[in-house]
Amino acid sequence: MVPYRISKVLFGGDYNPEQWPREVWHEDMRLFKLAHVDTVTLNVFSWARIQPSEDTYDFADLDEIMNLVRENGLNVCLATSTAAHSAWMAHRHPDVLRVGQDGMKRSFGARHNSCPNSPTYRHYAPLLAKKLAERYGDMGNIVAWHVSNEYGGLCYCENCAAAFRVWLRKRYGTIDAVNRAWNTSFWGHTFYDWEEIVPADFRSEEWSMGGRVRTNFQGISLDYRRFMSDSLLECFCLERDAIRAVTPDIPVTTNMMGLYYELDYGKWAKEMDFIAWDSYPSYGEPANFNILRHDVMRGVGGGKAFWLMEQTPSVSNWHQYCALKRPGVMRRLSYEAMARGADTVMFFQMRRSIGACEKYHGALIDHAGRSDTRVFREMAALGEELDKLGDVTLGGTTDARVALIFDWDNWWATSLSAGPSADIDAVSELARWHAALLDMNVPVDVVGVDAPLDKYAAVVAPMLYMVKGDYDETLRGYVRRGGTLIATSFSGYVQENDLVMPGGYPGSLRDIFGVWVEEIDALPPDRVNGFVYNGVRYPARLLCDVVHTEGAKALAHFETDFYAGMPALTCNDLGEGHAYYVATCPDEALCAALLGDVLKAAGVAPIMDTPRGVIASVRENERGRIVYIINQTDGEQSVTLPFAGRDLLTGTAYAAGDAAALAGNGVMLIHID
Ligand code: GLA
Ligand code: ZN
Repeated sequence: MVPYRISKVLFGGDYNPEQWPREVWHEDMRLFKLAHVDTVTLNVFSWARIQPSEDTYDFADLDEIMNLVRENGLNVCLATSTAAHSAWMAHRHPDVLRVGQDGMKRSFGARHNSCPNSPTYRHYAPLLAKKLAERYGDMGNIVAWHVSNEYGGLCYCENCAAAFRVWLRKRYGTIDAVNRAWNTSFWGHTFYDWEEIVPADFRSEEWSMGGRVRTNFQGISLDYRRFMSDSLLECFCLERDAIRAVTPDIPVTTNMMGLYYELDYGKWAKEMDFIAWDSYPSYGEPANFNILRHDVMRGVGGGKAFWLMEQTPSVSNWHQYCALKRPGVMRRLSYEAMARGADTVMFFQMRRSIGACEKYHGALIDHAGRSDTRVFREMAALGEELDKLGDVTLGGTTDARVALIFDWDNWWATSLSAGPSADIDAVSELARWHAALLDMNVPVDVVGVDAPLDKYAAVVAPMLYMVKGDYDETLRGYVRRGGTLIATSFSGYVQENDLVMPGGYPGSLRDIFGVWVEEIDALPPDRVNGFVYNGVRYPARLLCDVVHTEGAKALAHFETDFYAGMPALTCNDLGEGHAYYVATCPDEALCAALLGDVLKAAGVAPIMDTPRGVIASVRENERGRIVYIINQTDGEQSVTLPFAGRDLLTGTAYAAGDAAALAGNGVMLIHID
């Protein structure tokens, strides 16, 4: 892993001068200075321009742009341009075109459009990356390589089918092992030859229902997703290695998308020099979702700082409702990213295009081309503020005592499951625990199933349906050594190939929780059960388990239906620790109540108390500890500081016990004395 070296919070973002005549480039340089822009992401979509044909490359424009931005003191995050292949390539080498889930061969168009197993793509993409590294690698101002852009999507072409068979051979060795892993004796699916295996698409095992992919064979669909994520990752690695061979000292990354379903970012992160991601909160989504995505991104990167590679300065063009970020919101979201681990505040985009689908997407410089717009002024003010902040926040990490477990295989498996409910959504289950912790101002790590757990006082594994390998051993050991583990309904059902572990749910986790689940009841949205925990009534929605205790004690019981009086919440003592089983999909209030009790018992204190809508986060580096206090509401709020410190943004010093006012969307970065 090559660390990135920066001396301040980078500020800037995607810049597409190739869409503009030269005189505009010079005006851009002037405007960038006014806005305190120090970094531009170049060359994201220029492949067609740089490589006009098989064996001709034309770097003249990029040379000029690279020189111009260097003369103007700008850092470059240099993209490899391989996220959109050219029309000539599609025309001459149709293998580069994807086949969709519907079996339809695409023609040229859009972007993020190359088949990841296309020999043409795998030849030309790393070759271009290599040429870029050779040409620009020693310019001195490249802070990172940005490979491709937002990898994603799926392909079902013949090349992918063939590569899938190779992938399966590697994973299972024999066709018999594949048959066992997929339980192909169901519906007479036994395979005798590798060539008989086809991708699980809408022509074979899958269909779409209510916007969600359903499948007849979970094992096949799951493996195809794993394989696709791996295929795209191989494309990243090919470019990365081509670059590394030329510029081993410049870190290589790509821009992720937070909770993006198609790619196992836990696996991807291990191949990247550092994590970078694009943050586009959607209108109307739960308030904590964007912070959850930051935490997931910090988590896949092993807790290290990450780059906020893109956000919009004001508006996106692709949401259903492209609402403007209100005054102050862009600044607040930028500090939210920093509060959860970001070392950069970068944007899409520096200048608005005049044609095609992103011409109404927000930019530092909009169509008016002026520096006195609201957006420009807000950006420039933030740029100035970040200049003043210098390096004090960089590299800060968060020492969380609570972990939430999130694993892509489990996400795919729960989502592809036929039953017990089509409304199951592993992210929503995760999000409620996260929201509760955020509300309590308790730092949390969101980690995968390969993370060590012993540093955590509490670990919550919401809906851990799939228990891969010996992960039960990890959890058992953690509890035995004194940890507190919380699990919820629909956990411990299957091993890594989505085959049920017989003998009663939650399978290999049974002894940890001291319960066994006999049946699971799916509640339609208009039905709700309930239970009382510590004198407070909580709803039980979506799933209710019919649970028998075998060692655990029941802390709450279902109120209604034929399982009234049976356990809804249990606790099992195991070794030095405790394992709680929540026999339903709890609401946020229950998450908060249970976590509150568990954390109190474990002596984990919140960072501070804040009014609802104000969140506190902490990051620490060798220069000290910074508490980020952020008002997510539009109204003024007041907080009482439990510690002495100085606000890095205003210079104001506070003693412990002082009150401080936060304007709507206001932010304080308290450097603790
Ligand atoms: C993504 C892409 C950018 C741009 C923005 C628009 O994040 O990476 O190229 O399309 O979306 O929001
Ligand atoms: Zn393909």
